[in-house]
Amino acid sequence: MENDLSVLTRLELAKDWVRDAGNFLKENISSPLEITEKTRYDDLVTNFDKEVQEQLVSNILHHFPEDKILAEEDDEKIKFDPEIPHLWILDPIDGTTNFIFDYKHSCISVGLTKFGRMLFGCVYNPYTREMYSAVKGEGAKLNGKEIHCSDKGLADNLVAFGTARYQTEDTDRIFDHAKKLYLNSLGIRAGGSAALDICRVASGANGVYLELMLYPWDYAAASLIVMEAGGFISTAEGGMITLDQPCSILAAGRQCWKEASQLLSE
Ligand code: IPD
Ligand code: CA
Ligand code: CA
Repeated sequence: MENDLSVLTRLELAKDWVRDAGNFLKENISSPLEITEKTRYDDLVTNFDKEVQEQLVSNILHHFPEDKILAEEDDEKIKFDPEIPHLWILDPIDGTTNFIFDYKHSCISVGLTKFGRMLFGCVYNPYTREMYSAVKGEGAKLNGKEIHCSDKGLADNLVAFGTARYQTEDTDRIFDHAKKLYLNSLGIRAGGSAALDICRVASGANGVYLELMLYPWDYAAASLIVMEAGGFISTAEGGMITLDQPCSILAAGRQCWKEASQLLSE
């Protein structure tokens, strides 16, 4: 029965789940926040990340018991395998540190792959009620309206970048890159939610997004959204991004991507 459901039906269900999860986050922000360190003092997870992940996983398995799930907060993560018919890739809260500080710039990110390729993605910002979504081959949308990357160059765009605080070996390189991009654009931003900041490339709010190390759950859904909005997404060196291991991310409209990748290689 599950396999007969169309992609659009699956996407509509996923959108309902991320919207419900977003409302749950907003409604319960005053209840106690349990913050736990993951790898070190600045790599944090909360009880809300875990609760949202549980809700998403239970919804998926209720409707699609045969599907597989790669979810950030699982201790034992499933290995990405292109032989898996349907693999969901989840980030229950992208922008956890923002969430802890009630910064109001975090999202829930859900993507679905079919035999290793992105089929659809949805990314929801509960604070602005913005739902970014895309289905392979059908364009990208923000709250149901088509969106497109900026077709202008760097000089007419803002650049966003990210850097996980604990990723210290990349600190010099990311700030060197950021400086070059800053000097060649209208300005620079660091929002603290890679998924949202990549989606904002899809809508043209950001001309570029750059980060030197992200995990598939950070960018799976947003990567399809930016490509379907007419943009490019590659590693910082211009290579293909992968879903089976972490990589750097350079996402941009075509003209910005050309200019940014040239600058980063100098
Ligand atoms: C983080 C955010 C942040 C980015 C980090 C990610 P998390 O994800 O996307 O913006 O700079 O690299 O790890 O931990 O909040 O899900
Ligand atoms: Ca993340
Ligand atoms: Ca997360």
